[in-house]
Amino acid sequence: MSTPVLRHTPERDSARARPGNETTRNLIGNGMLALLRHPGQLQRLRDDPRLLEPAVDEVLRYDSPVQLDGRVVREDVEMGGKRLRAGQKVIALIGAANRDPEAFENPEALDILRKEKSHLSFGRGIHYRLGTSLAVLEARVAFRGLLDRFASIRLAVEPSYRDGIVLRGVESLWIEVERARRPAEI
Ligand code: HEM
Repeated sequence: MSTPVLRHTPERDSARARPGNETTRNLIGNGMLALLRHPGQLQRLRDDPRLLEPAVDEVLRYDSPVQLDGRVVREDVEMGGKRLRAGQKVIALIGAANRDPEAFENPEALDILRKEKSHLSFGRGIHYRLGTSLAVLEARVAFRGLLDRFASIRLAVEPSYRDGIVLRGVESLWIEVERARRPAEI
C-alpha cells in the first residue's frame, strides 16, 4: 500500500469521500468495544492514563475504522508474488494488513503495550490521512472522560454493525456504568 507505483481510486464510499466524522465515531466505538471485551487492558489503562496514546494506536490497529482503500497501479510491478499491470485497480485491505503476523507479534491480541506501531489505519504515502491528530485527540478525550467519570464500565447490549465494507463501526454502544466518586465525596 505504501508503494509509489500505486495511486488512489476516487471511490465515493471511501474515507476520502466522507472524511472525519464517521471514521472518528468508529474509532471511538470500536475502540471502546475492544477495551470492554478485554477488561485486563481496560484496567491497565485506568491504572495508568499515560497509556492513552498507545491504547488509541492499538485499538486503531485492532479494529480499523476504515477497512479497505483503493489504488490504481501506475506501472507494471510484481507484488506479493502477483503480476500487477498498469491501470489495474487494486484494493488494499487495511484491516488484514493490521493483523499481518509478519508485521505484528500475536496480531489477534489486543495489547496496548505493543511495541510495533506501524498500523495502516490512516493510510500511507501522500494521501496519509490529514485529520490524524484531530481524530486521535478526540478518541483520547472520549476514553479519558469515560474512565474518569465512571468507576466501572460494562457492555450492556451486544452491538450490531452498520452496513458497508469500507467503513466498519457499531450502530451504537450501550454500556452500564457506575459513577466514580468525586475526590470531594471521599
Ligand atoms: C479515526 C479517524 C479516521 C480514520 C481511521 C481515517 C482514515 C483515512 C484513510 C485510510 C484515508 C485514505 C488514506 C490513504 O489512502 O492512504 C483517509 C483519507 C482522508 N481523510 Fe481520514 N480518517 C479519519 C479521520 C479524519 C478526519 C478527522 C479528517 C479531517 C478533519 C480526515 C480527512 C481526510 C482527508 C481529507 C482524506 C483524503 C486525503 C487525500 O486523499 O489526500 N480524516 N482517511
